[in-house]
Amino acid sequence: AKFTRINQETCIACGSCGACAPEIFDYNDEGIAFVLLDDNQGIEEVPEDLYDDLEDAISGCPTDSIKVSSQPIELQEI
Ligand code: F3S
Repeated sequence: AKFTRINQETCIACGSCGACAPEIFDYNDEGIAFVLLDDNQGIEEVPEDLYDDLEDAISGCPTDSIKVSSQPIELQEI
């Protein structure tokens, strides 16, 4: 299983992740990314058919703000 979450403290609103994985990531009014699946809580499993998109987004983020884990991602971990 994979869970993902954006570190909104380090996201610089570059806009890459939502282009790579539009079914996983979207942006708030300031352009800061969040995970659509669970409102950036890191608690909803990423569907397997989106794993490739997720990997593209992770490798394309210039600030390494996309966290991924095999476990639900708690707030304090990012
Ligand atoms: Fe932010 Fe990285 Fe996406 S900087 S907009 S999380 S690609």
